[in-house]
Amino acid sequence: TLKELKNVHQGYIKVSAATTSIYFITKMLASFSRIHEGITVSLHITNRKTLVEQLQNYEADLVVMGEPPANLDLYSQRLMCNPLVMIAPASHALAGRKGIPIGEIVAEKFVVREQGSGTRAAIERFFAEHGHTFSSTLEMGSNESIKYSVIAGLGLGIVSLHSIRLELETRSLAILDVGGFPIQRYWHIVTRDGKWLSPAAQAFKEYVIAEAATYAQDYQQLLL
Ligand code: PGA
Repeated sequence: TLKELKNVHQGYIKVSAATTSIYFITKMLASFSRIHEGITVSLHITNRKTLVEQLQNYEADLVVMGEPPANLDLYSQRLMCNPLVMIAPASHALAGRKGIPIGEIVAEKFVVREQGSGTRAAIERFFAEHGHTFSSTLEMGSNESIKYSVIAGLGLGIVSLHSIRLELETRSLAILDVGGFPIQRYWHIVTRDGKWLSPAAQAFKEYVIAEAATYAQDYQQLLL
């Protein structure tokens, strides 16, 4: 039970998490560590492609990711939404405009994540479904570099809402109101079937699931 798991005080857990999840998983880890001081969590932050490889090889105890691969035996639980939004510098001409048609925006330059990123895959799928392709993209391997590039004026970006909380607060970035956006995605916590979960790993998993429920409400506020 959840109560018994609160009493797990020792252990070592290997958690792998998507690059884009650092904006919430670090906070959850901090509060978990205060309750379970004796549990050591090794957190590996990487992109979706590497997470899938780690699941294939039974490497991580727990994986936090956007899209669990369909071709592996997994236990996967949905945590909360992960809306992908289109961002521009706050001073951009399109900032504040309502209902921008997607066709009007595809000719813009975009700064996007690398191949292998789950965010990137979702963006490509979205544009393909709407019958468009990017004309011009600049690839970067981290959400932070995308945000800074967009602020600097290199192009528009498409990132997880979770990643831009501070930039919205300081008004350095604006979310563009483009048709079809935000792209709706979800976070999952995933374990590989057949891999034994230690009590410590079980405790962390249950903790993350419980916390996610409160975060979900919090993030919805940002979109209002
Ligand atoms: P990523 O995030 O883009 O950092 O790989 C995973 C995902 O959102 O699917």
